[in-house]
Amino acid sequence: MSKAERAWRRSVEIAAFGYFMALLVGIAIGQVWPTIAITGAALLAAYLWRLRTLLLLLVSRRLIPKGEGRGVVDRLQKVLHRRQNESRRRKQRLIRMLRTFREAAAALPDATLMVTREDRRILWFNAAATRLLGLDYPRDMGRRVTGLIDIPRVSAWIDSPNREETLQDVPSPVDASVRLSFRLIPYSDDQALLVVRDITKLMHLEQVRRDFVANVSHELRTPLTVVHGYLDVIEPEEQPEWTAMLEEMRRQSRRMTQIVEDLLTLSQLEARDSLPEEPVDMVRMLAMLEREAVALSHGRHAVSVEDRAGCDLLGSDKELHSAFSNLVSNAVRYTPEGGRIDIRFELGADAEPRLSVIDSGLGIPAQHLPRLTERFYRVSNSRSRSSGGTGLGLSIAKHVLNLHQACLEVVSRPGEGSCFTCRFAASRALAREAAESDSGVR
Ligand SMILES: Nc1ncnc2c1ncn2[C@@H]1O[C@H](COP(=O)(O)OP(=O)(O)OP(=O)(O)O)[C@@H](O)[C@H]1O
Ligand SMILES: [Mg+2]
Repeated sequence: MSKAERAWRRSVEIAAFGYFMALLVGIAIGQVWPTIAITGAALLAAYLWRLRTLLLLLVSRRLIPKGEGRGVVDRLQKVLHRRQNESRRRKQRLIRMLRTFREAAAALPDATLMVTREDRRILWFNAAATRLLGLDYPRDMGRRVTGLIDIPRVSAWIDSPNREETLQDVPSPVDASVRLSFRLIPYSDDQALLVVRDITKLMHLEQVRRDFVANVSHELRTPLTVVHGYLDVIEPEEQPEWTAMLEEMRRQSRRMTQIVEDLLTLSQLEARDSLPEEPVDMVRMLAMLEREAVALSHGRHAVSVEDRAGCDLLGSDKELHSAFSNLVSNAVRYTPEGGRIDIRFELGADAEPRLSVIDSGLGIPAQHLPRLTERFYRVSNSRSRSSGGTGLGLSIAKHVLNLHQACLEVVSRPGEGSCFTCRFAASRALAREAAESDSGVR
């Protein structure tokens, strides 16, 4: 039998005993029914009074005493007392946890702001937000982040529906020499976390690295030109056994010169925020790419060019040519004899121009795809070395495309081939002169 049933039985026994005593007293004094009625009313009043007391305690949220008796109301009181204690302990535990989390978040070196997702109003921020962004507590609570951090780049990034994951290298509104990175992380339906990190040291290191690479490449250029020049004038006729050695030395010196040139190109691209914008004649560009592909292929591949976009591009002709040309040379290099290479210029669903270079070559295993545009990254050293690659071409292409706010997409299957697509914004499409569009590209 459960405790509740026992308590119920106990209460019934007490009531039965009370009525029995009332009956005896009633018989003794000759007033049976009035005595029983008075006893019943007294018992009911006692129960109602105790229930009222419990209800008042519950409503006023005061602690309910444990309850000593064994009746049904005592049992109810004990259960309520236990539940109340449990819920108080749970609440205290939660408050302690919340306080610990807040203290931890407040101690974070990164500025952390809780904001509403709808209109980016500040719900909470830590001490680092005061240091890095100049926020003031309580003045700035409930205000809009975009109004407080008065930097157009940040406002545009926060309000953009397809914003990039992080916004890098933003000067702090408190001290412009401090560089910040912004990250917005939604964590519930209506709230998000804005994390702002001090990346001054990182940016400084990055600058040192860029300068170092640029300086070393620059310094290496002259000695390499000299070595290259001397190697070119040496005639191996007098010493025929030198022929193979000289040939290898010339090949390696050409390779080193190419690496140095590519590194310099990368450094120059990295140092720029934008490129000169001009109309890029895509008919001429596609014809040039076709000629290059045919020349590199030496008739080993079937090369085709399709111009379905019928527009020109707004961008930097020289840099775009270098990016496209690397994709074409990769397609030729990494496609075995007899394969196909298609160069396609077309418009996407929203009229955004895109140039694709599709080959039926070796393909690239999926695990290499995310790292393909890193400097010196090569899928297989032997594959690239045999074809003379240095692993800088796609890195340069990515930088060029970034400077055009465009992106590079790669789809590839080992053994089946690859498709490299440069996607531009629709705003970069320029109407083409009618005469030019008929100029011979299929
Ligand atoms: N179309 C392709 N098919 C298969 N693998 C490719 C293709 N394009 C690039 N790759 C792989 O990606 C790597 C990086 O290409 P990237 O153009 O950056 O360097 P590279 O061609 O080796 O040298 P270079 O600096 O001369 O261009 C290549 O080494 C190659 O392994
Ligand atoms: Mg390449």
